[in-house]
Amino acid sequence: MFSRAVLLLFVLLQSFWLSYGVTVYNQAGPMNPTATSGSSGSQATLGNVGWISALNAYNNVRLQPPALPSPMPSTSFALVLPNQAQHMSGLSIPQRGDFYGFSIEMSVVEQVIGKNASFIQVPFLNLLAALTDRGNDVRIRVGGNTQEMASLVNSLPNNAMIAKDSSVVTGSVSTGQTPTLDYTTELLYLLANVSSLVNAKWYLGIPMNDTTHLRLQIAELGDAILGDNVLGYQVGNEPDLYASHQRRPDTYNVQNYFDEFGVMVNGIHDDKQIKNANKLVAPSLQGTWKAEDLWATGYLDAYSTSISVMAMEHYPDQNCAAEFPNGGFGDIKDPQTVFPNYLTHASGVQMVQPYLNSAGIAQQLGKEFMMFETNTASCGGFPGVSDSFGSALWAVDYGLQMAYSNFTGALLHVGGQNVSYNPFTPPPTNLSLFEKWTVGPVMYSTIFVAEALGTSNTSRVVDLNANGGNEFTPAYAIYEHDTLARIALVNFMTEQGGVGSYNVTISVGGGTTGEATATPAQVKVKYLLAPSVSEKDQVTWANQTFGGRFAADGRLSGTEVIQTINCDQSANTCTVTVPAPGAALVFVSAAAQAGDDPSATQTYSTTAVTNRVATMTIDPTALAHSNGHMGDMPLAGTSKGGANSATSTHAMLSYSRLFYLLFGLVQALFWFR
Ligand SMILES: *[C@@H]1O[C@H](CO)[C@@H](O)[C@H](O)[C@H]1NC(C)=O
Ligand SMILES: *[C@@H]1O[C@H](CO)[C@@H](O)[C@H](O)[C@H]1NC(C)=O
Ligand SMILES: *[C@@H]1O[C@H](CO)[C@@H](O)[C@H](O)[C@H]1NC(C)=O
Ligand SMILES: *[C@@H]1O[C@H](CO)[C@@H](O)[C@H](O)[C@H]1NC(C)=O
Ligand SMILES: *[C@@H]1O[C@H](CO)[C@@H](O)[C@H](O)[C@H]1NC(C)=O
Ligand SMILES: *[C@@H]1O[C@H](CO)[C@@H](O)[C@H](O)[C@H]1NC(C)=O
Ligand SMILES: *[C@@H]1O[C@H](CO)[C@@H](O)[C@H](O)[C@H]1NC(C)=O
Ligand SMILES: *[C@@H]1O[C@H](CO)[C@@H](O)[C@H](O)[C@H]1NC(C)=O
Ligand SMILES: *[C@@H]1O[C@H](CO)[C@@H](O)[C@H](O)[C@H]1NC(C)=O
Repeated sequence: MFSRAVLLLFVLLQSFWLSYGVTVYNQAGPMNPTATSGSSGSQATLGNVGWISALNAYNNVRLQPPALPSPMPSTSFALVLPNQAQHMSGLSIPQRGDFYGFSIEMSVVEQVIGKNASFIQVPFLNLLAALTDRGNDVRIRVGGNTQEMASLVNSLPNNAMIAKDSSVVTGSVSTGQTPTLDYTTELLYLLANVSSLVNAKWYLGIPMNDTTHLRLQIAELGDAILGDNVLGYQVGNEPDLYASHQRRPDTYNVQNYFDEFGVMVNGIHDDKQIKNANKLVAPSLQGTWKAEDLWATGYLDAYSTSISVMAMEHYPDQNCAAEFPNGGFGDIKDPQTVFPNYLTHASGVQMVQPYLNSAGIAQQLGKEFMMFETNTASCGGFPGVSDSFGSALWAVDYGLQMAYSNFTGALLHVGGQNVSYNPFTPPPTNLSLFEKWTVGPVMYSTIFVAEALGTSNTSRVVDLNANGGNEFTPAYAIYEHDTLARIALVNFMTEQGGVGSYNVTISVGGGTTGEATATPAQVKVKYLLAPSVSEKDQVTWANQTFGGRFAADGRLSGTEVIQTINCDQSANTCTVTVPAPGAALVFVSAAAQAGDDPSATQTYSTTAVTNRVATMTIDPTALAHSNGHMGDMPLAGTSKGGANSATSTHAMLSYSRLFYLLFGLVQALFWFR
């Protein structure tokens, strides 16, 4: 009873803190596209603390935007698009708004998701809500390398949910040893609780490090505790790296894996506690083996009935020499040198190319085909690249390229504090809750892609090969319910000497489309913007932002701005400007425009969690029921005392300090009770 009361108090205090914390956030001030970064307050100070900026998630590396391409692409070009899908060739299969999700390394769950089922990270909930508002649900994989060594235990010291057990270490010395991971059932209850607050669906990993002693508990518990909120179980993570990670003999090959996977499948089917035995995710190759070589073993004939998601894991590059200086990876790569590799449509095109055949096979078999773990670069990403606006544009283009190529989803990886590619990173662990979250530019890409695809499950995507196929100015069209709904435009260039932006003249119907002209009277446009591709803090989506580094609570703040562009219906044209750098989402059809009414999209339901008045009652079911009814709650950012009130920040800050002190006191009470 006592501990329950303390917990309640705990959550209350946290919410008190957070509601005031909004003001701290506002200190960073409104977005000013022309100002340089590293603005004010706690943000700059924290970035200057040596041990913090030494962690890759908070690095201060700032690169030079590449020079304008030479020759320059045309900065004025036309897109003539049929209004009806039947007149457009090359459309993808129907895609869902939850296309982009997250892959969260199992070892960082406590930091990112929550300490236990009763202590959930509110910024994490807010970030998910920003996506579920746009894409219906969000898919999250909890796993990674650490899933392979994970074991269920009854309890852990200090009531912990997850603990690394460094006494048992596997893997090679040169490429890092993975400590084994112990977890308790609390992990599953935590995920269930998250799903009760936001529409999150989970993929879990069944360890495959030892096929003579199967550890299937995660699936037994997953089925029992998560029910329909678990989408599937990944069996084996990057088996084509088992040998090089010294987890299998050097001779380990596709046939050995085929055999071992069979052992896993049989074990899973024999376990009567596992209901979802046919919802496996495999083979999750990293790319060292060609998928076709595995298919040639008869793998799909043998196992496809057990597999619901055919998965691959791939990053376009690696930064392993930085992470493992003695790992035989050669010289450390220079982020400035690799930067341009991400600022081009060619990156996404190259990424999907090896998988087109397999995506087609998956479609024939009626399976999902997912990029189950991906991001800018493995081994932690490139500081200055992976956390720059350039990576946001890269991920928009890559995501839409995967959708066009008939992938059915992609999960951006979230590592720990020492990787630079995270979509979101909690504050450094041993710091107080003052220092808030850092939202990475790729988080905005997930929002962009969710809005581009919408919630109808009918969106089909086509790469328009725009501007003569120029790599710096890609464009995609999205047909929904068989009608042109939205157009996505990307500009990878950074303006220099007033040059870099482009104008695209859109015509719907007419021209060569074989249709009557159908250009609407106006289109609406949302922009993803930052001052340059190397920007790390000042990123906006439709003028809203999650805030700069150390300044996010997971909610978009600021006034949403949706541009209305009048078209010339007699000429059948609409001209949309795409700034350099930037991405534009053009809402073309009446339905797409109506769905994007700002008053309809600003429903960040879980802001309730951070609302002081609302959390007074703290009943989690009340939070769940507040979904979609945020009009009733004083939203920070629109209400008195919210993000937009610039009043007495100092007083607020000291309140926060006070609450934090109390917070620590309560914590101490709890431990020593
Ligand atoms: C949950 O985690 C919080 C924060 O670490 C801790 O204070 C609390 O005791 C934990 N609750 C349970 C039930 O373990
Ligand atoms: C989370 O889960 C625990 C255990 O299942 C439950 O007692 C608690 O009420 C839940 N809390 C929230 C915030 O949903
Ligand atoms: C697999 O992982 C478990 C749990 O960490 C460990 O106890 C076991 O020794 C490992 N087995 C092999 C063959 O590596
Ligand atoms: C973080 O990664 C870098 C390599 O990028 C490494 O040199 C450093 O030791 C790591 N820091 C920690 C705390 O692991
Ligand atoms: C995606 O699937 C559709 C439907 O089968 C097909 O027409 C299209 O060519 C495929 N796209 C690619 C890039 O393979
Ligand atoms: C937090 O951890 C860092 C790195 O381990 C250390 O340098 C620093 O002193 C710690 N700070 C506090 C307040 O404990
Ligand atoms: C879209 O698909 C999801 C997942 O399958 C489903 O939950 C949702 O209801 C579907 N939405 C519509 C509008 O059919
Ligand atoms: C785009 O169109 C606007 C409005 O007509 C014009 O002012 C601007 O110069 C054009 N930009 C380019 C790059 O053509
Ligand atoms: C964009 O947001 C900022 C910060 O909220 C606000 O000051 C500004 O007025 C907004 N821009 C427009 C055009 O509304």
